[in-house]
Amino acid sequence: MAEKILQIRNLRVTFETPFGQVFAVRGVDLDVEEGELLGVVGESGSGKSVTFLAAIGLLSSRARVTGSVVLQGEELIGKTPQQMRSVRGRLMAMIFQDPLSALNPVHRVGKQIVEMLQSHQNLTNKQAATRAVELLDLVGIPQPEQRSNQYPHEFSGGMRQRVVIAIAIANNPKLLIADEPTTALDVTVQAQILEVIKRVQQQFGTAVVLITHDLGVIARVADRVDVMYAGRNVEQGLVDNLYDHPSHPYTRGLLSSIPQAGKDRLTPIRGFPPNMMSPPSGCAFRTRCEFAEPSCEVDIPELKMFNDLQTACLRAHQLPSFQVRQ
Ligand SMILES: Nc1ncnc2c1ncn2[C@@H]1O[C@H](COP(=O)(O)OP(=O)(O)OP(=O)(O)O)[C@@H](O)[C@H]1O
Ligand SMILES: [Mg+2]
Repeated sequence: MAEKILQIRNLRVTFETPFGQVFAVRGVDLDVEEGELLGVVGESGSGKSVTFLAAIGLLSSRARVTGSVVLQGEELIGKTPQQMRSVRGRLMAMIFQDPLSALNPVHRVGKQIVEMLQSHQNLTNKQAATRAVELLDLVGIPQPEQRSNQYPHEFSGGMRQRVVIAIAIANNPKLLIADEPTTALDVTVQAQILEVIKRVQQQFGTAVVLITHDLGVIARVADRVDVMYAGRNVEQGLVDNLYDHPSHPYTRGLLSSIPQAGKDRLTPIRGFPPNMMSPPSGCAFRTRCEFAEPSCEVDIPELKMFNDLQTACLRAHQLPSFQVRQ
């Protein structure tokens, strides 16, 4: 089995707000293997971003974080903000939906890559500038030498996201976390950015976590998938297994609600995601689940191996086989 680069165990994140506590992440367990591309999916508010912001140490001090996040054998929970700054960029980097927020508008893009390189590596200005141009080339920016002297506003959205990826991979991190990196881009550009991310994974052996709502994107690029619901993982496995025979009723619901060729009707999941100030007891999905029974109200189901997948459903072994409804 491949080495694990990241191991998250019983991660919990609670926010104190003027209206009460928000239980955003409620016991997440997941592994990222060296060099793999893990897709993380789930409806809005399921805790995808908060899980990885906690892992990389970018949550505000109002968040209470407990559990364990081990990156390359090193525990990250409990590290000081200064220690986490050294981890970020060097071992693990994160990119977001909006590339402008990650770039400094008053600095040339080349300089921003140089700064990232020099904050973790002992390089002369000339060496760093050469490397910055190489990185721009690698992420598919045409005429990288001229472009490195330009400012972020001179780039299109897709080109800016390429620059952000160049900065993120500048120090050859072991893990790249991409949180909805293509949501703000049009479809053609989306495909190009995904291709850059896939190339980084394949060329450098960088493990990638790709957070998205889009199961189609996951099907195209991911090796494994983690499905989140109400602050927990409910199903994990290899993409082919998960799409072919999902066990968890929530995963089945997600797969039934995506457009497919030859299918004229979508079946959305009934109801709404729960309020994370007072999530339902037991299995949080039970309030929307057609297979729920009284025992689902009592205990929170843990992930268990069933039919090639890790599934957190008490009834996984009793459910009818799955077919995308026509
Ligand atoms: N700073 C915060 N203070 C209070 N609650 C927060 C904060 N950040 C996130 N939350 C809450 O935590 C829960 C998980 O949010 P998160 O952003 O991780 O969802 P997500 O799965 O990334 O959703 P999306 O797909 O919309 O990005 C939500 O209920 C959200 O409202
Ligand atoms: Mg998010």
